[in-house]
Amino acid sequence: MASSRRDQAVRAAVEQGLLTPSEPVVALLDTTGIRASATALTSAFAAVTDAPVLHAFAVKAAPLVPVLRLLYEAGLGVEVASPGELALARAAGVPPARTVLDSPAKTPAELRQALALGIAVNADNLQELARLDALVASAPTASPLGLRVNPQIGAGSIGALSTATATSKFGVALRDEGAREAVVQAYLDRPWLTRLHTHTGSQGIPLALMAEGVGAAYALAEEINTKAGRQQIDTLDIGGGLPVNFVSDEETPTYAEYARLLAATVPGLLDGRYALVTEFGRSLLAKHGTVLARVEYTKVSGGRPIAVTHAGVQVATRTVYAPESWPLRVLAYDAGGRPRTGEETVQDVAGPACFAGDLLAAGRLLPLLRPEDVVAVPDTGAYFFAHHYAYNSLPRPAVHGFTPTEDGGIAFTTVRRAQTLDEIVAEAGGDRPGALLRDAPDGGPMKP
Ligand SMILES: Cc1ncc(COP(=O)(O)O)c(C=O)c1O
Repeated sequence: MASSRRDQAVRAAVEQGLLTPSEPVVALLDTTGIRASATALTSAFAAVTDAPVLHAFAVKAAPLVPVLRLLYEAGLGVEVASPGELALARAAGVPPARTVLDSPAKTPAELRQALALGIAVNADNLQELARLDALVASAPTASPLGLRVNPQIGAGSIGALSTATATSKFGVALRDEGAREAVVQAYLDRPWLTRLHTHTGSQGIPLALMAEGVGAAYALAEEINTKAGRQQIDTLDIGGGLPVNFVSDEETPTYAEYARLLAATVPGLLDGRYALVTEFGRSLLAKHGTVLARVEYTKVSGGRPIAVTHAGVQVATRTVYAPESWPLRVLAYDAGGRPRTGEETVQDVAGPACFAGDLLAAGRLLPLLRPEDVVAVPDTGAYFFAHHYAYNSLPRPAVHGFTPTEDGGIAFTTVRRAQTLDEIVAEAGGDRPGALLRDAPDGGPMKP
């Protein structure tokens, strides 16, 4: 997010009463920035290929219906990996022809629904292909069907997000003994299998490794098409995974760099014989989201200044539990939402949850925070505030989109309202308090 636009939005959020003592944490989405990223993606690939490309946004990165709608209007589709994500995509009005279903654990019912709707499906493994055999035989379908392969090219810097390791749970492990031959035969046996899919990892994977994974999938597609004696595989799904820079506002690496790297290393992929699908998530949204939280108290403990804020594990789960892999910047603003200046002091920025590790940042150099100040946590538009973690029954915060207005101001629209206490109680079995008592075995309401 451009820093000047963010500064303006933080101030406007305070002045327009979005962040208050009773609603001390909210999230902002920069609509202009999201549109710009969608355009950067489509133009990067348009610059290197004339082939049709479906850019399917990975819904897991930002599962918010208005975000999916915005990206759809910007020309993108969606990649979904669960019934919930598919429901969000449908609620956003994304048609089946622009939807791709992945996931390593699709049930028969999910597969049946996808095939009935005509949604593209990438099978994860040979057992899933056997399920597809039965479904394809039982009813005609418009769904393009593919298989995910794991080129086993190795890990990036974050093990949990490296999907192309030797023992990854995703796809058919191509280098395992006999696996490549089995995959080729699976295609030759199934004329309707027309796509090939790979996604070699997310944050922490260098571009060169991503391109190597795509290159391996391309080589396999060529081999299958040669053996089939026709262009059986007509579409390559190259996944997502472009890493995001979390240390500054610079948006690097860019889609254009990645597209040029693919053009240089896998030129045949882009020569027009294959349609393409991409599945970027984090790189489309991360830079355009910011969490704002009020500082409730400040203290000094063992000589270390600590600001206790309202943003912690509930909105930045990965950062709190794995701070080395997921460091986030923290920006200081005063109670009026103006950038806080002054001498910088090493301090901890803590969240509201009741465990010691609930820290957004430890030992961070920042202007000394005071009660009622505001902290902003940028780069949280993907896999952070939209992925609420319900520790301490902390509510899901509201998410507001913002755009600059013609008169130089900022206009907000609510993307998701804050969760209410009634909703928290209802989602916690609040309609059946006696469910575990012996006299209410049906889980009904407690007897008076
Ligand atoms: C199959 C698949 N495609 C796409 C993505 C999106 O990756 P990213 O958000 O890193 O672009 C993921 C993320 O885990 C994935 O598993």
